Amino acid sequence: MKPIYLDNNATTPIWPEVLEAMLPFLSHQACYGNPSSLHWAGREVNAAVERARQQVADLIHATADEVVFTACGTEGDNFALLGTMEALASKGNHLITTAVEHPAVLDTCRYFEQRGGRVTYLPVNGQGLIDLGELEAAITPQTVLISVMWANNETGTLFPIKEIGAIARRYGVRFHCDAVQALGKVPIDVERARVDLLVLSGHKIGAPKGVGALYIRRGTDMVPYLHGGHQERGLRAGTHNVPGIVGFGAACSLIGPRLEQEMQRLQRLRDRLEQGIRLGVAEVGLNGHPQQRLANTLNLSFPFVEGEGLLLALDMLGIAASSGSACTSGSEGASHVLRAMGASDMALNSSVRFSLGYQTTEEEIDYVLEQLPPLVERLRQMSPFSSPQDEDLSVFNCPVVECTIDDH
Ligand SMILES: Cc1ncc(COP(=O)(O)O)c(C=O)c1O
Repeated sequence: MKPIYLDNNATTPIWPEVLEAMLPFLSHQACYGNPSSLHWAGREVNAAVERARQQVADLIHATADEVVFTACGTEGDNFALLGTMEALASKGNHLITTAVEHPAVLDTCRYFEQRGGRVTYLPVNGQGLIDLGELEAAITPQTVLISVMWANNETGTLFPIKEIGAIARRYGVRFHCDAVQALGKVPIDVERARVDLLVLSGHKIGAPKGVGALYIRRGTDMVPYLHGGHQERGLRAGTHNVPGIVGFGAACSLIGPRLEQEMQRLQRLRDRLEQGIRLGVAEVGLNGHPQQRLANTLNLSFPFVEGEGLLLALDMLGIAASSGSACTSGSEGASHVLRAMGASDMALNSSVRFSLGYQTTEEEIDYVLEQLPPLVERLRQMSPFSSPQDEDLSVFNCPVVECTIDDH
């Protein structure tokens, strides 16, 4: 059996059509100019960058001049949050976000707090959703920005973006949305969602690592992120990553016509995986919203099994998945997302995320379903927690190794 990759929320393989589109821009024979140069070599490359900008804009129903290329989603989140708060500092210094954002947002918020800003971190319920009444109640005259992700990277839970956008509009507050996990998995329309700032990343959708984009609604105040050149209308200086940008554009143009059909296929496969695991393994818990969730994402807890141990055992069978949390709840490594959702120590320690991709096949899912139940059974037999009464994880057997937190 070929290795099976079920970690597509971490990153995706580059699609063959994307690679093909990129190759001329990696060649020494053609398409090597600097897109800022005015001569023939620059002009043809500049045209390719602008074509890619249009392709990205088309997928999110924006106009090309609202798309700024970045190096990654993390940069986009930093840029959107800090650039807005600085641009609108005279209005106020309050930002509202959620407790389950990616660290690209949460750590930027903490940095902003260290510099004197005020941040409200909205709590979530057991399915990972915020209360819109609480969001509204948190808005003050000093509130400048609301930042809520479109889809959570660990659980796949989808936030009600349109409703949040409507609230932001009603109060005259900017709305930033981290759509890194949503792109290519749900239809995105920046007009309907009423977002002012939207963050995207190429490597989650079959484009290479090292390229992303920030959508900035026309007329939105923004302070430049990088200084030192006139690129990206002076908002983000630096010579463009041309092959990456061309690949990102190609991936966006491939997704458009395939999105709906592919998501139906992935949901069927994801549900097959979930149902098969539930049939083969007792006491499995779902982390995230059962319906309002990305079609490709399945985050499960396997009580009485140490999640990291299960991942290593799956890896030995050639199956790549990931954990949302790895060590005891008291440690730094436990998933902040599951913790915010009120997950028990047992759930925190035994969670595994399977994220399917455009390349995932039914045979692969069936192979996982063959291998996983006996594996869980074996690990449970080895676990000191052999019975459901042993819920006390203070003695849970978490290895004394650096634990990994999955932030993808
Ligand atoms: C929700 C979310 N936001 C931001 C990022 C960061 O994106 P990048 O890896 O392109 O920096 C990720 C990546 O895992 C993500 O899942």
